Amino acid sequence: MLEIKDLSVAYGSKRVLHDVSLKVEPGEILAVVGESGSGKSTMLRSILGLNGGSAAVERGQVLFDGRDLLTAGEKELRRIRGGEIAMVFQQPAQSFDPVTKIGRQVYETVRAHEKLSKADTYEKMRTLLADMKLPEPDRILNSYPFELSGGMCQRVALALAMVLKPRLLLADEPTSALDVTVQAQVIATMMKLRENFGMSILLVTHNIGVAAHMAGRMAVMYRGSIVEQGETRQILSAPAHEYSRRLIASVPVIGTGR
Ligand SMILES: Nc1ncnc2c1ncn2[C@@H]1O[C@H](COP(=O)(O)OP(=O)(O)OP(=O)(O)O)[C@@H](O)[C@H]1O
Ligand SMILES: [Mg+2]
Repeated sequence: MLEIKDLSVAYGSKRVLHDVSLKVEPGEILAVVGESGSGKSTMLRSILGLNGGSAAVERGQVLFDGRDLLTAGEKELRRIRGGEIAMVFQQPAQSFDPVTKIGRQVYETVRAHEKLSKADTYEKMRTLLADMKLPEPDRILNSYPFELSGGMCQRVALALAMVLKPRLLLADEPTSALDVTVQAQVIATMMKLRENFGMSILLVTHNIGVAAHMAGRMAVMYRGSIVEQGETRQILSAPAHEYSRRLIASVPVIGTGR
């Protein structure tokens, strides 16, 4: 469904991604892990051309259903963004316009892709918000982004990403601001939606426990390169690359007795 091929990206003269190649199959969850600054967010933003003006793609392709998104026109990208591929940013506030109430943003996002009434949109959103343990959905819909806490904003951004039932969700640290019980609930909601409508997820996370729980396959990024990828279980139990060994040795992984 998604194939990143030999992607190299630089900010000015500094190259931060080196020939990155990854594949996400329909319905699967692929986790990308790696230390801070290794290029995970840059890679994720590159997929939809959201890296900003200072970034340059030096080479490579991002194939979605065989179509290279890096050469797609703005109109086609707009259709794909949100509707087919949704993204949750690492800083949840980046998913929102700061001066527009959440409810209105939700409705505008949905209306850009689907003919759905405001009432139906809000109803769908209320269900998603409740699934993610956010009480008072109406208050949230009636709030500005700055009126929500970081953890609330993160969940609302995730709900907004999922309300259109995208075929692929790009999620950059989607549970980093949440405490563990809420995190578990949010993960369960993502897994449920994935099961219900076959969404694929490309998940960037620092949390090896989250990767182990959610992802069938895992890729390890180190200084802008993918140094290892394969079945999550395989990598966690027998990491092949020196950096993966250090990364995995440094965290207790749930269920492995470490
Ligand atoms: N807009 C930008 N302009 C210039 N350099 C950038 C920009 N965004 C990221 N970088 C640089 O690119 C490199 C990769 O950053 P990136 O944010 O992709 O890493 P990351 O793996 O997501 O890190 P973290 O785990 O801390 O989120 C870093 O050296 C960073 O300083
Ligand atoms: Mg990042």
